Amino acid sequence: MQLALCTWQEVEEYLGRRTGIIIPIGSVEQHGPNGLIGTDHLTAEAVAQGVGERLGCLVAPTLAYGMSQHHLGFAGSATLKPSTLMLVVRDVVQSLAVHGFRRFFFINGHGGNIASVTAAFDEVYAMRSLGEAGQPVRCRLSFWFGPRTRALTAALYGESEGGHATCSEVSLMQYCRPQAIKTAPMSPHLAPASGGFFDAADYRARFPDGRIGSAPSLASPEHGRQLYETAVEDMAEAYQAFLAC
Ligand code: NI
Repeated sequence: MQLALCTWQEVEEYLGRRTGIIIPIGSVEQHGPNGLIGTDHLTAEAVAQGVGERLGCLVAPTLAYGMSQHHLGFAGSATLKPSTLMLVVRDVVQSLAVHGFRRFFFINGHGGNIASVTAAFDEVYAMRSLGEAGQPVRCRLSFWFGPRTRALTAALYGESEGGHATCSEVSLMQYCRPQAIKTAPMSPHLAPASGGFFDAADYRARFPDGRIGSAPSLASPEHGRQLYETAVEDMAEAYQAFLAC
């Protein structure tokens, strides 16, 4: 079920039965020579909607923009400052909590979001603990891939998976958006591994084509299909475990 495609009466009826909701979150940032700018939010959204269909739970509109300052050296990338992202997450959670939502499961596509999103969760908890505002909500952030998906990724790509513009996310994107599959020469085949980075100019100097440690020319839509099905299974289990905690 997609929140965006419900009426308010349908949401009210849902809240009579359940209080959980899934929120996909990602980024708008370069993903190397054959990865799409929308990879991180489109992958998170695809898996979230798969879980929503499987379990009949509500999926909120995707938070497409994330904390991507280090990618601004590449055309098309856009970022929220950490402080902005924290406020967006806090306000969305507190808005939905007004209506009775209590469990917020964020399915994430982008590592750069983690610090700000978890800080936003703490902001929500702190406001309630201090008696300022808020409902007794619980929030969790999970990457779209769980243990089964990690095992599948390791079997498919081994060390070539990498840390950014990874084989698995490019494959999942190719499965979800076959009309937008790209090919591009990549040299070296395996991108330089991460030794860390600072701002956007520093990132661009260290990782000239945008990739970190990956060889996404290995990606395929068939791998993407396997990854999608496995990820939905992983996330359905993780969401149900979260509801029970
Ligand atoms: Ni990504």
